[in-house]
Amino acid sequence: MFARSIGEDTDIVEKEMYTFPDRKGDLITLRPEATASIARAYIQHKLFAQDAVRKFYMIGPMFRRERPQKGRYRQFYQIAAEIFGVQYGLADVQLIYLLVTLFSRLNLKDVKAHINSLGCPKCRPEFRKTLTDFLVSVSDKLCSDCNRRMDRNPLRVLDCKVPACREALAESPSILDSLCDDCRADFNEVMVSLTKLNVPYVVDKRLVRGLDYYTRTAFEIQTTSLGAQSAVAGGGRYDNLVKELGGPDIPATGFAIGFDRLTELVGLNAPDLIKKPDVFLAALGSKSQTLAFEWMCALGSDGIMAEMDLGNKSLKSQMKRADRLGAANVLIVGDNELKEGTAILRNMETKEQESISLENIVEDLTKKFSK
Ligand code: HAM
Repeated sequence: MFARSIGEDTDIVEKEMYTFPDRKGDLITLRPEATASIARAYIQHKLFAQDAVRKFYMIGPMFRRERPQKGRYRQFYQIAAEIFGVQYGLADVQLIYLLVTLFSRLNLKDVKAHINSLGCPKCRPEFRKTLTDFLVSVSDKLCSDCNRRMDRNPLRVLDCKVPACREALAESPSILDSLCDDCRADFNEVMVSLTKLNVPYVVDKRLVRGLDYYTRTAFEIQTTSLGAQSAVAGGGRYDNLVKELGGPDIPATGFAIGFDRLTELVGLNAPDLIKKPDVFLAALGSKSQTLAFEWMCALGSDGIMAEMDLGNKSLKSQMKRADRLGAANVLIVGDNELKEGTAILRNMETKEQESISLENIVEDLTKKFSK
């Protein structure tokens, strides 16, 4: 299934797939990606029967035998989303917009969408011919893989990572010049819509992606902060895959985020993301500690971030820890407060203090701190 959908001539299938016989001699492949499997499930379980438009997501590990380096691992995680049943380029725009919005919320700097159109079975043969003619003219500068793939699958050559090949391909023809009217109109709509949504993008005529199933819009979200591994997410339209895997003629589009690369990038901006407690419960004495512990659990289930020290520490040391954690408020409760049925609530920013009744303390604090 993977070889058929990703393509026999791709690096993933040719060099990186983990395929081996298990103890009983069954041939096992560790999944290198999820799209083929999701398309297979869509077909096998007739998920198109009620409504062909279905949207799925998945998060999980993938396996590729690549040379491990920063941002490139042999077991890595993807967050993937797929839309089945929508033939319009606006679905691609929706996915790109979702990614860019997510990354901007995560405070990632300099992310840009790189987009290209890979045409359709109507216009691609003509481009194949134009490209092959060009490749023949520079074949002596291309690596042995490229020379081998040139006849069978010339678009693969555009994906070669060997620096000399990249140089030789600088002047390669653009597939955008060979698009049929329908594909051109579709790609124009994608560009216009991305512009309207203020999505930063560049058209990258060499972007063919490392998998064969793409048609029309293909995209990558790239960043300059990751060194050589610039793609933090990649995807595109695959209008023929469902049919090629034996299902009905239903178009689809989707993406996968490299979770490891994403965490690496978000890690660089971590201070912005560390959550600070809404309230730190500073409890003195074992009775207060026991009560505060119950409040902390109850506040937590109400969605309020509460924290406390579980050992019986001094007030000074508890206040210090509240400060270190950046807690917005501290609730101070000790034997005297318990006797009076109140606690002291201190706003750590304004330093203002108020007395607060213990009667409905969890409800009162929840009301105060819910956003
Ligand atoms: P992909 O470009 O092969 O696409 O992988 C998507 C993302 O996974 C990459 O942009 C990268 O962030 C991450 N990734 C890939 N290989 C590694 C690795 N060895 N180590 C760490 N991260 C890695 C796909 O897999 C398609 N299935 C995406 C898709 C979904 N297209 C349509 N729907």
